[in-house]
Amino acid sequence: MNTRIADPGSARLAGVDLHALAAREGTPLYAYDAHALDARIDALRDGLHGRRARVCYAVKANSNRALLARIAAAGLGADIVSEGELRRALAAGFRASDIVFSGVGKTRMEIAAALEAGVGRFNAESREELGLLDALAAERGQVACVALRINPDVDALTHAKISTGKAENKFGIALDPARAIFREATRWPALRIDGLHAHIGSQLLSLDPIREAMARVAVFAGELRASGTALRSIDVGGGLGVCYREGQDHPPALSDYLATVFAAFDGFEGELVFEPGRWLVAEAGYLLARVVRVKQGSSRCFLVLDAAMNDLIRPSLYEAWHDIVSLVPQDRPMRVYDVVGPVCETGDTFARDRALAEVEEGDLVVLCGAGAYGMSMASTYNSRPLPAEVLLESGGYQLIRRRQTWEEMTAGECAPLERGTA
Ligand code: LLP
Repeated sequence: MNTRIADPGSARLAGVDLHALAAREGTPLYAYDAHALDARIDALRDGLHGRRARVCYAVKANSNRALLARIAAAGLGADIVSEGELRRALAAGFRASDIVFSGVGKTRMEIAAALEAGVGRFNAESREELGLLDALAAERGQVACVALRINPDVDALTHAKISTGKAENKFGIALDPARAIFREATRWPALRIDGLHAHIGSQLLSLDPIREAMARVAVFAGELRASGTALRSIDVGGGLGVCYREGQDHPPALSDYLATVFAAFDGFEGELVFEPGRWLVAEAGYLLARVVRVKQGSSRCFLVLDAAMNDLIRPSLYEAWHDIVSLVPQDRPMRVYDVVGPVCETGDTFARDRALAEVEEGDLVVLCGAGAYGMSMASTYNSRPLPAEVLLESGGYQLIRRRQTWEEMTAGECAPLERGTA
C-alpha cells in the first residue's frame, strides 16, 4: 500500500478531506502539500548551510505562481528557460539577480528581455549564442555574466528523453571548443565568461554519472584556473531523482548527493549553483481524478478516469510510473486495472496491470508524485480545459489556479480573415 495517503479510506491529505475537496473544486485537480514543499526547501537550505552555494529552482518543473512565490519567499533563486518563465519568476518575486537563464535556443527577444530585467547569469550553450548575447549586451552598454554549459559526455542512466549530457544530445559544448572559448574570451567584450554549467539529465537515481560528470567539470575548472581563469561559479544543474514507486525507487539521499558534489569541487572557492526542479516539487503534488467508468474489456479491465494524458503526460511520454491509490475503504478486494484516461489514443494510459482496492464509478483515485512536470506540461488536447490547482495547508486549502473555462480555452482563436481583406 502506498503510505503517502496514510488512510485512503478516510482520504485525507495534509489534513484536507479529499472527497470534500473534489466535490467542491471538481476533478481532475492538482493538489500540492505546502508542508511537503517547505520540508524540501528547508532540507536543501540545511544541507547547504555554511557553503558558498545557491539554489535556483528550475521553474519548468512547476511554474504555478503561488508555488513560485513561496519558493522565492524562502530565498531561493530561479532557473528559467524562456521569456515566459522570466516573467513568471519576476512576478512571483524572484530578484532578477537571483535568476539564471538556461536553454539551448534563447532568442534575440528573450535575451533582450533578460538583459533588460538584469538577470544574474546566462548559461550559454554555443559560440553562436555568445555572439548574439555579446552584441545585445554591448548595444545596451551592459556586461553580461556567463557560464558555459559543458557537455561532459556522460550517460545519466535515465530515460533517453530526459538525458542531456551525452555528446549526441543538443545541450552544452564539448570540452575542446569550450577550452577555445575561454582562450578567446576577449572576443566578446560585453561578456564576463567566468562560470561553468553542466546538467546531464533528470530523474537521476544513481550518483555514479553525477560523480563522473562533476569530476570532468572539476578537471576542466582546474585546467582553467591553471591557465589564469578564476571561475566565480559552477552550476551543477538539477536532476536529483525522486521516488515515484514506493518500495522500488531508491533515489539518492539529498545528503549523499550534496556530499558527491562538494567532494568533486573540494577546494573550489567560487559559488556552487544547484538547479533542482523535480526534487523540490514532485512528491508534494497529487493529481486527483474521478472514475468515469469501469469497463471490462475482453482481456483487461479498464479504469477510465476523468484525468487524461493532457493533464499528466509523463506516463505516455516517458513510460513513467506514478503510484496510484484508490480512495476507498482498503478492505475492499484488490483488483488489477489498466488505468486510462478518456483521450482518443491508446497512449492515454497511466498504468497497466495496476492492483488497486476495487473501485466503482464515481470513486476517487489519486496519482502520486505529480507535482513536477505535471501541470507544467498539461495541454488542452481533445479540447479538455486545463485542470485546477490547489495548495493544501494546515487542514485547509487555497485555489491557486482556477479550472480553465470553455471561453478561456478558445479565447485566442480568431475567425479566419475574409478573402481579400488580408
Ligand atoms: N536545469 C536544467 C538546465 C534543466 O534542463 C533541467 C530540466 C533542470 C535544471 C531541472 O531538472 P530536475 O531537477 O527537475 O531533474 N519533463 C521531464 C523532465 C524534463 C527535465 C528538463 N530539464 C519529466 O517529466 O520527467
